[in-house]
Amino acid sequence: MPTTSIFYGSVYGAAERLAETVCEKLTAMGHSAKLIDNPQVEDVATAEQILVITSTTGQGDLPDNLLPLFLGLQNQFPLLTGKPCAVIAMGDSSYGDTFCGAGKQFEELLIELQGRIVQPRLDIDAMVDFDPEPVALPWVEKLAEQL
Ligand SMILES: Cc1cc2nc3c(=O)[nH]c(=O)nc-3n(C[C@H](O)[C@H](O)[C@H](O)COP(=O)(O)O)c2cc1C
Repeated sequence: MPTTSIFYGSVYGAAERLAETVCEKLTAMGHSAKLIDNPQVEDVATAEQILVITSTTGQGDLPDNLLPLFLGLQNQFPLLTGKPCAVIAMGDSSYGDTFCGAGKQFEELLIELQGRIVQPRLDIDAMVDFDPEPVALPWVEKLAEQL
């Protein structure tokens, strides 16, 4: 069974905790999943399936722990032709136009790299859902059917 590599971007820990929960959920469902700490371009290029879970910081910006990977991918541009990809974006709609900006940017980049988005991006709004898990887990169950 192909392994899903989970890449996460987090400032205060919410997206990191969700990434851990999602990894456990996929594993409990009989899938192979692993969290990638300190991710490198090579980790994306060699991943069999890609799940990005990222919060947004600044004004629509990527968290510092994911930004180097994003810039590295833009520079090296490894083609992910047809590789299954999905994105969970965490944000806060009170930020207006930059709502979930990091997740949107990452999804756009995966599409530019010719990754295949297997399920529409999940945007989690901290204004509405204080606890992201009840929103994310049903989405992950659907995702698991696509992987
Ligand atoms: C300084 C700061 C800037 C933020 N900027 C944005 C933003 O531009 N767009 C957005 O949707 N959310 C923004 N957020 C909200 C966070 O993305 C949201 O609270 C998220 O759940 C935090 O996850 P984390 O704990 O993994 O960092 C911001 C939060 C902070 C504290």
